[in-house]
Amino acid sequence: MKILVIGQGGREHTLVWKLAQSQLVEKIYCAPGNAGIAQIAESIPMPDRFTDLADWAASENIALTVVGPEAPLVEGIVDVFRERGLKAFGPDKRAARLEASKDFAKQLMVQNDIPTAKHQTFTDVEAAMAYIEDYNAPVFVKANGLAAGKGVIPGRTFKEALQAVTTILVDKAFGDAGDSVVIEEELIGEEASFTVLTDGTYCLPFVTSQDHKMSHDGDTGKNTGGMGAYSPAPVITPELHNDVMQRIVYPTVNGMADIGRPFKGVLYVGLMITDAGPKVVEFNCRFGDPEAQVLFPRLKSDLAPLLIACIDETLEQYAADVQWHDAAAACVVMASGGYPDPYETGEVITGLEDADAIEGVTVFHAGTKQDGANIVTAGGRVLGVTAVAGGLHDAIQQAYQGVSAIHFDKAHARSDIGYRALEKL
Ligand code: AMP
Ligand code: GLY
Repeated sequence: MKILVIGQGGREHTLVWKLAQSQLVEKIYCAPGNAGIAQIAESIPMPDRFTDLADWAASENIALTVVGPEAPLVEGIVDVFRERGLKAFGPDKRAARLEASKDFAKQLMVQNDIPTAKHQTFTDVEAAMAYIEDYNAPVFVKANGLAAGKGVIPGRTFKEALQAVTTILVDKAFGDAGDSVVIEEELIGEEASFTVLTDGTYCLPFVTSQDHKMSHDGDTGKNTGGMGAYSPAPVITPELHNDVMQRIVYPTVNGMADIGRPFKGVLYVGLMITDAGPKVVEFNCRFGDPEAQVLFPRLKSDLAPLLIACIDETLEQYAADVQWHDAAAACVVMASGGYPDPYETGEVITGLEDADAIEGVTVFHAGTKQDGANIVTAGGRVLGVTAVAGGLHDAIQQAYQGVSAIHFDKAHARSDIGYRALEKL
């Protein structure tokens, strides 16, 4: 079969890499892709209109379209493909609301007794400020809509919280995404990412993973899309795993079905493991990035039939046969100096082949592009240097060997990816 993958980041390179190993897959296209993806798939431009892409997919007999990022899902790309009779993996527009609106997600959780931080939603500045004053404890202030992972501002002090409300509701730093603001209590604990495939009824959990969102060592600096990840995440014990499935995952998927918004695709649950048990920090409607880079290398089974089974509502038939490598994986992101603030692009990258030659190492591209004979930087997160080994310690060490082999001007990587997990081993 022919497959189309949509997106251009490290997650999409990993998806293409994994799907290319499938016996069922004869050709992969990627819109728009990056320099690494172009080595294994044919890049096509991403048209402005989903209908144009669907027309192209129909004319090319694309059997499966896999949507990587949240934005096209939230804008309804799956609906457009489905209307054409094409299979596209991911939630439709109504179901993607789970990520598109934090207030919607909160209401779903409240209605279904899903553990999460206490919250209130405001459109009015004065009312939001009065609530913060009254609440008198650290909060998180969040733009309600999609803000590319940047719309969450900690308000650890009263002043910080007020400033965050002003930034979102008055200064409109995140545009329409900040038409309303969700203010929630600060949750204390360790974070973990929980990834589930679902066909709207049956839920298939992936192995566990954990990312590092902050830009600098010791989880300091600024919030980013993710500076590295590892799998498994030892913080998720088997008991916790069960708890998350029963108290969070199934109530969410069932709750969406109950309100006529059946959710098919990836449910990514950002968790905080608190003293009172796991609580939901956020839902995403797509694979995590860079979590995907440590999940797919551990998946032994063919991914293509699993994604199709989510669309066809036959996931349960496949679930028992899904196999994982009994190994650990680590991914270290190499970013452009300055990211997540403004950074330069166009820096020549060297050493990619040397890194790929290291045992267990695969370099997934994010912001890269081909420039004549060179591969150059073209984004904030540039590469996800990933290693698979018998244990987490070795996987992390090998990923860092890969990082040492690669050079570009002003490259920045954290030096402590996986430190929390290593403390637990
Ligand atoms: P989000 O985009 O909602 O995942 O938030 C980004 C990051 O902010 C999360 O990964 C957490 O590290 C942090 N965060 C968000 N909400 C809370 C909360 N209620 N308590 C503690 N940390 C939070
Ligand atoms: N790594 C976090 C995310 O994909 O949202």
